[in-house]
Amino acid sequence: MDRRIAKGVNQGVAPVTYGTGDRPPRGDYSRAGADYTCEQDWAAYTDADHDTYRRLYARQLQQLPGRACDEFIAAVQQLGTPDRIPRFDEVSVRLQRATGWRIVGVPGLIPEEAFFALLAARRFPVTDWIRKPEEFDYVVEPDVFHDLFGHVPLLFDPTFADYMQAYGTGGLKASRLDACELLARLYWYTVEFGLIDTGQGLRAYGAGILSSAGELPYSVAAPEPRRVAFDLQRLMRSRYRIDTYQATYFVIDSFRQLFDATAPDFTPVYASVRETISREGEIEAGVVLPGERQFRI
Ligand code: PHE
Ligand code: CO
Repeated sequence: MDRRIAKGVNQGVAPVTYGTGDRPPRGDYSRAGADYTCEQDWAAYTDADHDTYRRLYARQLQQLPGRACDEFIAAVQQLGTPDRIPRFDEVSVRLQRATGWRIVGVPGLIPEEAFFALLAARRFPVTDWIRKPEEFDYVVEPDVFHDLFGHVPLLFDPTFADYMQAYGTGGLKASRLDACELLARLYWYTVEFGLIDTGQGLRAYGAGILSSAGELPYSVAAPEPRRVAFDLQRLMRSRYRIDTYQATYFVIDSFRQLFDATAPDFTPVYASVRETISREGEIEAGVVLPGERQFRI
């Protein structure tokens, strides 16, 4: 999910977030260190917490064939223990061996710069609390199921793993260039809600899709949403909704394409996007530009 900035070290207060409503973030930030990470208090999970995870995992796993990309399906069992919340340390051992990434616990959403710094160091922050049973279908903030099930499997893929690190270093630079809002759109439309065009059809690779029982079938098969080819500058002009299924998805050909398209220095890209926005405006979610090709489902 989107992570917004509050500069400085953790002083036991939650980061400022925007777009998420009128409640404060629900994590206990007094447990976190200056880098916002905390120990996963595994012993504190209740049987009901493990049961929530087990039911979410089972429901989502059976939905993956034909909808999730192959790389995700191949790696999902690396999370281990489908019947209880995995121990982060145990997942990290396998992940470190595969791609050099580790996962670290966080109390919830963290400030943008802290988030970027962790990614740049190949450390992925995973919220350690799990949603309440009454939030089974929808939880406003990312919880352990979204962060772990949605994001971690693709960190086992070497190209995607490198992309995530590059995003972190790019984020630190974007902070200095005051371009975090444009860069956040890239995260949203790729890491959270990306689709990939395979020989067998469109598949999801975005964590926001893969951790959602409703949006997974919707994203790849519903007639309503727009599906357009990944184009960096077009994407950075595009607004997004955080409170509904996406109205537009961007489709990549491969993780290599995504990595290569985002490798150049973004300093001139941000300038160009800003210039285009000032002339032609932003693009609302769901709007397709004249002449723009849409993917068939
Ligand atoms: N190339 C980008 C830059 O110079 C860094 C980046 C890579 C950002 C991948 C996002 C994703 O800012
Ligand atoms: Co997420």
